[in-house]
Amino acid sequence: MNGDAIISVRNLTAGYGDRKVLDDLSVDFPRGRVTTIVGGSGCGKSTLLKCIVGLLTPWSGSVTVDGRVLTDLSEEALASALARVGLLFQAGAMLNSITVSENIVLPLSVHTTLPRPVIDEIVRLKLDLVGLGHAGAMLPSELSGGMRKRAALARAMVLDPDVLLCDEPSAGLDPQTAADLDALILRLKRTFHMTVIVVTHELASIDAIADDVVFLGRGGTLHFAGPLADAKACTHPAVADFFARRMPDMPAGTRSLLDVLEEPA
Ligand SMILES: Nc1ncnc2c1ncn2[C@@H]1O[C@H](COP(=O)(O)OP(=O)(O)O)[C@@H](O)[C@H]1O
Ligand SMILES: [Mg+2]
Repeated sequence: MNGDAIISVRNLTAGYGDRKVLDDLSVDFPRGRVTTIVGGSGCGKSTLLKCIVGLLTPWSGSVTVDGRVLTDLSEEALASALARVGLLFQAGAMLNSITVSENIVLPLSVHTTLPRPVIDEIVRLKLDLVGLGHAGAMLPSELSGGMRKRAALARAMVLDPDVLLCDEPSAGLDPQTAADLDALILRLKRTFHMTVIVVTHELASIDAIADDVVFLGRGGTLHFAGPLADAKACTHPAVADFFARRMPDMPAGTRSLLDVLEEPA
């Protein structure tokens, strides 16, 4: 067991109905670092995040958050452990019928008994943090895609979590907006010493933010876990292909488009 891990996943098997998605997965997420989770569509990245935030109960194995094994906790203790973990959902998941500020108030009214003026001040600070100080009174539907992501990030941050999980935060964003979001994630790590876990398949984003990489294969198996530089030197075919930006899972002998393009004329 890695003593410096804020989240430890041990022999985790999980799925839906009788469909197994994660199979005996063990992986550590080091404290104070940014880990990117990479893997093909449907391999179980979002499922792993759901197990880490207690939205999905594992079939077997364990998830430990800051020394507490989630499955061993009472409902109350679980709620307090999970208040330390913020989740930025893949789809943003802001409620569209209430303002941005009211969306950010929600976790505070569920998890705290703070007086309203204090809550309003916290919301103002979080909106400033993500550069949306002017947008609190707007409806989520009035925001651009990048602004909506930042608003969702402010909500994920509102309880001052130790760990922030982001599920494909730059999906659907233009490259500049995605880069801005990466810069914001780095700022959160540096300013608040947060541990950040980001599901992404964007190489530019991985290069910009990742200290560590977790590479999942089909069936929720682990291809690689470790520092970014080691991931780039990893000889596992799927990992090597990913960093060489070639198409995975091609029959042996098939040349990728990149190979063809890079051949001398
Ligand atoms: N709520 C659900 N009910 C049934 N199957 C699901 C559910 N969520 C995800 N799955 C299935 O589990 C597999 C892994 O999904 P997911 O973790 O979302 O993959 P990823 O995030 O890596 O793309 C997929 O085959 C998906 O169809
Ligand atoms: Mg997903």
